Amino acid sequence: MASVGMIKSRPLAPGATATAALWLLSIPFAHGQATQLTSEQAFKNVTVLKGIPVDEFMDTMGFISASTNYNCADCHIEPKEEGDWSTYAQETPRKATARRMILMVQEINKNNFAGARVVTCYTCHRNVQGAPKITPSLAEQYGEPPTPDPNEVEIRRQRPDAPSADQVFDKYLQAVGGAQKAAAIASIVFKGAYTGYAEPQSPVDIYVKAPNQRTMIVHTDSGDRTTTCDGANGWMAAPATDKPFPVIRYTGGDLDGVRLDAVLSLPAGIKQAITRPVVGLSMIDDKDVVVVQGTATGGRSPVKLYFDKASGLLVRQVRYADTMIGRVPVQVDYSDYRDAAGAGVKLPFHVITTWTDGRSDVLLTSAETNVAIDAAKFNQPSPPAPRKK
Ligand code: HEC
Ligand code: HEC
Repeated sequence: MASVGMIKSRPLAPGATATAALWLLSIPFAHGQATQLTSEQAFKNVTVLKGIPVDEFMDTMGFISASTNYNCADCHIEPKEEGDWSTYAQETPRKATARRMILMVQEINKNNFAGARVVTCYTCHRNVQGAPKITPSLAEQYGEPPTPDPNEVEIRRQRPDAPSADQVFDKYLQAVGGAQKAAAIASIVFKGAYTGYAEPQSPVDIYVKAPNQRTMIVHTDSGDRTTTCDGANGWMAAPATDKPFPVIRYTGGDLDGVRLDAVLSLPAGIKQAITRPVVGLSMIDDKDVVVVQGTATGGRSPVKLYFDKASGLLVRQVRYADTMIGRVPVQVDYSDYRDAAGAGVKLPFHVITTWTDGRSDVLLTSAETNVAIDAAKFNQPSPPAPRKK
């Protein structure tokens, strides 16, 4: 698939989408075991991004792509045969430059910023291919300033004119039908349609159990893609065409992310989602929003929750997964709140997740509340069986 513009061809983060590129596993792997290997053990030719889990390594690739606006295939040799991951280990001139850049950035931070990760690829490259710009643009300087990106607001302390986090959460619970009704929901089974980037629509099933378990199964043409959080652990099982390992265990920010998606799937979870919340104000598409910023409960990832100021409903979640070279953002947009569950509680029926390498669009069609869900649904998922085309 010829890739146009900025969208890359692979999903890298939880909540994922898939791709037109087809890859198969070419790495030895103990069947049924979620890989626990570090990057240099899991891959063939990793010399600088060492000592990190596989999910974080894939996030670094997403970070590099998003920072330089290069596609995977701009730095790596595209496999001749569908799914031959070994070509990723081969050297290319641009890959060599990127490796030199990683070392350069480490040096800059070490020598100038006491080793803090202050400078990243994005600092210079700004999602523009080739060499970074070196001359100031007068058109930019005197032109209209770009509209501020609401994802970039940083609420460092409670704004005096903003409500308290508890008031924001209470208003949200009121808006969805009341705290009592929300608390009465112990489980939900959703059904709907999932569309990933450059991927046909697939049926999706989502199982949610209070307070923090969630499994999403996307039935793609090449096999099921399953994202699971059992409350403490998270995994993604994906077809070989999608991911370098059939089951990848989430760590760090990716684990915080799947847990947040689980907690926030139930409106009553809003008060458990983040710790040390502070509140500020911003705008999304000309609409006033209240922003509650904090840290993912049980983790370290920064999280921002955006509530529509007028309706009180949660409209966006932005979270950040840390990697050794930079923070990878994930944005989840919630809309089309409906009381389709018959429980007197409104749930978002349209959920769009965007990250450095793609976007997934989930349109739900039904939500059944308080149905019994087999506990095994939240166990580590098995590698998917290949499906017939
Ligand atoms: C700007 C260049 C660049 C881009 C874009 C890029 N990579 Fe990489 N990739 C590298 C470098 C450099 C390494 C080696 C890192 C090291 O030695 O520590 C690497 C290594 C890898 C490896 C390990 C291969 C092995 O077995 O040794 C995989 C897998 C990989 N990249 C996947 C991807 C994917 C998927 C994308 C697209 C999302 C991507 N890369 C985008 C530069 C890039
Ligand atoms: C301090 C600024 C700076 C930072 C930070 C930086 N780069 Fe660069 N990068 C450059 C400059 C300048 C060039 C052009 C060098 C040239 O043309 O010889 C370049 C060139 C490149 C190229 C080759 C582009 C092409 O096709 O001509 C790649 C790939 C690249 N950088 C990747 C990265 C990655 C990955 C990171 C983060 C690990 C990074 N850079 C961080 C300044 C930077």
